Amino acid sequence: MIKNISVIGTGYLGATHAACMAELGFDVVGVDVDPEKIEHLSRGDLPFHEPGLPELIRRHVDSGRLCFTTDLESVGGWADVHFIAVGTPQQAGGTGADLTYVDTAAVSLAQAITKDSLIVGKSTVPVGTARRLSSLIAEESRDDVSVSLAWNPEFLREGFAVEDTLRPDRLVVGVGSEADEAVLREVYAEALSRETPWVSTDFETAELVKVAANAFLATKISFINAFSEVTETVGGDIRTLADAIGHDTRIGRKFLNAGVGFGGGCLPKDIRALQTRVSELGLDHTMTFLNEMDQINLRRRERVVTLSEQILGDLAGRRIAVLGVTFKPLSDDVRDSPGLDVANRLFNAGADVFVYDPEGNANAAKRFPRLGYVDSLAEAARDADLVVLTTEWNEFKALTPADLEDVVAARNFLDARHVLDAGQWESAGWTFAQLGRMFPQG
Ligand code: UDX
Repeated sequence: MIKNISVIGTGYLGATHAACMAELGFDVVGVDVDPEKIEHLSRGDLPFHEPGLPELIRRHVDSGRLCFTTDLESVGGWADVHFIAVGTPQQAGGTGADLTYVDTAAVSLAQAITKDSLIVGKSTVPVGTARRLSSLIAEESRDDVSVSLAWNPEFLREGFAVEDTLRPDRLVVGVGSEADEAVLREVYAEALSRETPWVSTDFETAELVKVAANAFLATKISFINAFSEVTETVGGDIRTLADAIGHDTRIGRKFLNAGVGFGGGCLPKDIRALQTRVSELGLDHTMTFLNEMDQINLRRRERVVTLSEQILGDLAGRRIAVLGVTFKPLSDDVRDSPGLDVANRLFNAGADVFVYDPEGNANAAKRFPRLGYVDSLAEAARDADLVVLTTEWNEFKALTPADLEDVVAARNFLDARHVLDAGQWESAGWTFAQLGRMFPQG
């Protein structure tokens, strides 16, 4: 019977997975090389914003089912299952994935393990990694214990990490034997009791499912954003277009929200790593469409700058409020954030940029300290020549012209997420631009 679980790497993925495994009733130890992180986590103190996670961690640290350590050796003889949840960042100076942390975790674990156990990779890796690690683990582990590897990609979304981990859409496992699959079925028994789809396959398919899902989602976003370029030129309503094609159940409405495009710590990096990997495999032309998709995504950011210039003329010395610099709402993550990139581009074009984000100011200030950061929407918009909405936080989606008309210097608004009602703003006398919509009107 599976009782003890270790999770190696306590970043976003690992901290969430460890807490959720404790919630499912297992005894869990989270392992990380960073002593400061371990100390903070033990208090439920997270270095990132994720709704519900700090409470879950505190609850299970208190219940005694969850603890954190830097001592990887100590879990080697204790855990029945070891999850690897370390990062696979973009290589410094390259586009491929940096596998240093995954390789180190696998080798260190293999050397530390003193009882029969299963190592389960959760990190997003280039196809072929699991098979290579499997051999490495066999070489590095002791002869008197049986250590095998499975691959179990993770599909959680920031902002919904706990919910997605406890109630996943599907579970995908790449396994080398029925015995290893049986171990994973036991770990995920709770989800299986709710008839969560279970996909058991080989290593390569499991690795590819993750990057294929991310590539598909990114393609959907760029697809609708490409149509934005058309509606901005010829007229038409991008949201209605998305609704109409989304009614076709083969297409679906989700991930067809046109706007300033995708960012974050996963989609952009995973897509670049996928392109790099297929090129390494000699399939240079297979994924070139992803390149085009990336270009569409980046053009959206530049479009915000050109629309701002259309509204204000030269941006030098003009005061612009940027609302939202996290890559999406309910997160404080500014990695590859379209909103933050737009703020920086406007700054580089000479504008005085004032940023307000409910959660992201501190992280954004670390990346682009030269922008002005303020603590409220009203402060950002005060005396602004233009207000630009770049992340669709609820607070911004609820904005009405009356909220801002006595605050701004000029009634100019650019809705880069296409979430507000243009008619309402125009009838209140605002110059209102929106990505996906023709500007100027007429
Ligand atoms: C993504 C995947 O959804 C998740 O399954 C995977 O495990 C990790 O990567 P996440 O990075 O949390 O999750 O963000 P997601 O919700 O997918 O949004 C990605 C980006 O796309 C955001 O910048 C978001 O604003 C943008 N987006 C999303 C759109 O521009 N339009 C849409 O219709 C949907």
